[in-house]
Amino acid sequence: MEEARGRSEGAHRRDGARRACRRKFTTAGLPSVAQSANLPPFPMATTKARTKRIGILTAGGDSPGLNAAIRAVGKAAVGEYGWELIGFRDGFLGMIEDRWVNLDKRGLAGMLTLGGTVLGTSRDKPHRMPQEDGTTRDLTGEIVKTYRRHKLDALVCLGGGGTHKNAARLIEKGLNIVTLPKTIDNDIAFTEDTIGFDTALGIATETLDRLHSTAHSHHRIIIAEIMGHRAGWLALGAGIAGGADVILIPEIPYDVEKVAAAIRRRSEHGSNFSIVAVAEGALPASDAQELELLLRRRDRARNDTEKKEAKQALAAWDKARAGHTMRLAKLLEDLTNLEARVTILGYVQRGGTPSCHDRLLATRLGTAAVELIRQGKFGHMVAARDDKCVPVPIAKVAKGIKIVPTDHWWVESARRVGTCLGD
Ligand code: F6P
Repeated sequence: MEEARGRSEGAHRRDGARRACRRKFTTAGLPSVAQSANLPPFPMATTKARTKRIGILTAGGDSPGLNAAIRAVGKAAVGEYGWELIGFRDGFLGMIEDRWVNLDKRGLAGMLTLGGTVLGTSRDKPHRMPQEDGTTRDLTGEIVKTYRRHKLDALVCLGGGGTHKNAARLIEKGLNIVTLPKTIDNDIAFTEDTIGFDTALGIATETLDRLHSTAHSHHRIIIAEIMGHRAGWLALGAGIAGGADVILIPEIPYDVEKVAAAIRRRSEHGSNFSIVAVAEGALPASDAQELELLLRRRDRARNDTEKKEAKQALAAWDKARAGHTMRLAKLLEDLTNLEARVTILGYVQRGGTPSCHDRLLATRLGTAAVELIRQGKFGHMVAARDDKCVPVPIAKVAKGIKIVPTDHWWVESARRVGTCLGD
């Protein structure tokens, strides 16, 4: 990859470190369950189009399969159509600071199986960039300038909920944007699948498999905390595939007494150990009500001040809940007379080689993004639906979140094999 920078590497690193100290991760999931977009699939190309110049970036948390997607966009855009492709470093920050690499055929080689993202990523919000004095500034204008300076025909953004919100703002400024859904949480609205989910699901499932033998040997409860933010897809999927005895997800508030009763029943039947798969966002019923109120306050905020205050209250609430899995373990020990241990899977779930499924998905969605650009159909995310690639307006995606419907067949299946869901 041929690197280009407007400023020295050291200066960027120092800025990055300062920003990281000030930055707070406030996630903005919307409470509604996503609905289908009902958009027709688009046809693949039969003819080649004129040369174009495309930018690409990865934003938000990394996930396995991002490089496979960058490669797919590149192979189709550069290899098939002879367009030019440049990759911006570290998400939207790279566009603000005009740091980029040339993704020619050589630059695209050897990345299909690599984890993470060769471009780097960040959770920066261009409309609210932290400044030295503690204030924030809207720097979307810098992105527009970079886009024009490079004479881009389109920008491909790979990301999750936050990225789609950022992309929607840039579309309003006149940029031609196409997005790809990426997150291990699988919580992006209007798409059935997201790049990285399958790999993370595999890692979490394998971990539960491994925890079984040690839980069994020591007659313990082992609680595995699984990522997913405010959605339970990862914990539920891995919990079912890994044979967890209890699965707790944010969509089904739990009663710890019922969880303890299920574990005691297992003991009475001779199984003196239990595996509990708990989503990081899982909540007891009382906390779920508090969260509901906080989310409602944020969504109904009438102005910037109200919104800021509501987001701060939500962040403080999230912070206060840190360690909730440890507290759950203590409660279960007290209620069952069994020893309990906690394993927090954490970032292991996001690391390493993408699964075959994620490589296939990334290749399918990445090449489809190039077809959208070729057709001049901008402002859309390429969704995976019914075995097809379907364009969905980014403005719609940005407003939703896909959580687990409580009547989803995964939920039904878990119940039918006797798994306690805490309700
Ligand atoms: O969105 C992916 C995810 O891994 C979530 O599951 C998790 O809550 C979050 O990112 C962690 O964010 P960060 O990488 O900023 O710590």
